[in-house]
Amino acid sequence: MPAFEPVLTRNFAVPDSQTLRAYESRGGYQASRKAITEMDPDKVVQIVKDSELRGRGGAGFPCGLKWSFLPKDRQETFMCVNGDESEPATFNNRLLIERDPHQFIEGILISCFATKAATAYVYLRFEYIHAFRIMERAIAEAREAGHLGKNIYGSGFDLEIYCHRGAGAYICGEETGLIESLEGKRGWPRIKPPFPAIEGAFRKPTVVNNVETLACVPHIIERGADWFKSIGTPKSYGPKLYCVSGHVNKQVCVELPLGVTTRELIEDHAGGVWKGRKVKATVPGGISMGVMSADEMDVKLDFEDIKKTGCLGLGTAAVTVMDDQTSMVDYLYNTSRFFAHESCGQCTPCREGTGWMYKIFKRIKAGGGRLEDLDVLTMMANNMGLTPGTTICGLADGAAWPVKNVLAKFRPELEEYIKKNQSSKPLVTPLQKAIAAGTVAEPVALGGRVYPAPQPALRSPGGS
Ligand SMILES: Cc1cc2nc3c(=O)[nH]c(=O)nc-3n(C[C@H](O)[C@H](O)[C@H](O)COP(=O)(O)O)c2cc1C
Ligand code: SF4
Repeated sequence: MPAFEPVLTRNFAVPDSQTLRAYESRGGYQASRKAITEMDPDKVVQIVKDSELRGRGGAGFPCGLKWSFLPKDRQETFMCVNGDESEPATFNNRLLIERDPHQFIEGILISCFATKAATAYVYLRFEYIHAFRIMERAIAEAREAGHLGKNIYGSGFDLEIYCHRGAGAYICGEETGLIESLEGKRGWPRIKPPFPAIEGAFRKPTVVNNVETLACVPHIIERGADWFKSIGTPKSYGPKLYCVSGHVNKQVCVELPLGVTTRELIEDHAGGVWKGRKVKATVPGGISMGVMSADEMDVKLDFEDIKKTGCLGLGTAAVTVMDDQTSMVDYLYNTSRFFAHESCGQCTPCREGTGWMYKIFKRIKAGGGRLEDLDVLTMMANNMGLTPGTTICGLADGAAWPVKNVLAKFRPELEEYIKKNQSSKPLVTPLQKAIAAGTVAEPVALGGRVYPAPQPALRSPGGS
C-alpha cells in the first residue's frame, strides 16, 4: 500500500498559508478552473458521487447523493457551509479555515458550481472571530483575483460567499437550526421532511455541508475518485482530520486515512496518556457519540466499525481520552449538564429528559443517588431522540448515548459510587420521601397559595 500523503493539511506549515499568493503558488485554484471550464455541473456531481465522499459533519451522509436530491427544475439554490463546530473537543474545521482558507473557498466554489448555487453562506460559530476575519480577507482576495464574483473564469458562472457568525448555540450546528438562525430567527430545528434540498434557506433548495467535506472536493477533482477511494476502509474513504484531546501528553489534530484506531491516535500521535496512566475510556467523535471502553481501543474509527462498540457513530472524529482516574459519575454529570443547557426546548422528551438526567446526576454526585436511578436513566435514554422517533432532531440522541454507553459498560462503578457515597445529610426532603414511598403527603404551601400534594402516579425521578 502506498504511503499516506496528507492533502487537507499540506499547506498548514507553509509561511503565509492564508494568502492567495501562497495557495496559488502550490497549485491552488487549478481544480476549480478545471471543473468550471472543462466540466459541466452534472459531471462534477458524478465524480463526487463516484468518490463516495461521506459528510464529515457527523452523520456521514454521502455528499454527491445529497447534491443529487436537489430538484432538477429549481430556479435558485443556496449553499450553507456548516462551520458551527460546536461539538465539544472538535477543532478541525477551525484549523482548516484559519490555516488554509483558500483551499476551503476552492471547495465551496467547485461545490456551488456542481449544485448551481450562486450564493454560499459560511455559518461560523460565534467564538471563531479569528477564523471569521481570515475568511473575510481571503474572500476579498479571491474576488479580486476573479475566483469569485461575476462570470468566473469567463464561464458565465457567478458566486458570492458571505460569512455569518452565529450567536453561540450548539443547536445551530443542526442543519435546519442553522438555516433558521441564518434567516435571523431563533435556532430551532425544523421538522423534516421537507429536507433542505427541497426547502431550505429562505424556502429555496439548499445544500448544507460541513467545512471538511467541502475541503475534500478540490482534491477529488484534481486527483480523481479512484485516488480518493484508495484511501481509508470499505465504505469510509478518504483522508480525515482526527482531533485528540483530554488526558494525553499532546493535544493534536492529525490528518490520517479514515479507519485508524484510538490506540494508534493516542500512542503514535498524541504522545501517550499523561502522567504515565492508563486509558479508562475514550469518546470517539464528540460527546454526542457515546463512550468506548479501554477494550475497544483497536476498533477502527470509521463510519462502519465504530457501530460495533454500541456508539452512535463516528461523529466529528474528535477523540477525548479519559485516564484511569476519571470518575464516570463526573463524566455523566458534565455531559448531562451540557445537553440540558443546549436543548432548544421544542420537544418534550428532549427538554424534560435532558433536564431530568442532569438533575439525577447532580443528585447522585452529591451523594443522594438511589440504585433505581440507573434503571430510570436507562429508560429515559432509550425513549428520547430520533432513534426512538420522539424528537425533531438528533440532539436528544446525543444526550442519551453517553448515558446508555456508560450504563452498559461501567454500571458497576456507578452502583458502587451510589452505595459508597450516600450522604449523611438529608438530601431528600420529607415531601420527596413521601412521594417516593407512594404515601399521600400534606398539601404544599408556596407563595401564599396551597397546592395539592403530588400524587404517586405523577412522581418524578429527580429528588433535588
Ligand atoms: C445537535 C446537532 C448538532 C450538529 N452540529 C454540527 C456542527 O457543528 N457542524 C456540522 O458540520 N454538522 C453538525 N451537525 C450535523 C448537521 O445537521 C448536518 O448533518 C451536516 O452539517 C451536514 O454536512 P455533511 O453532510 O457535510 O456532514 C449537527 C447535528 C445535530 C443533530
Ligand atoms: S431534540 Fe431537543 S434540541 Fe432537537 S429540536 Fe427537539 S428539543 Fe430542540
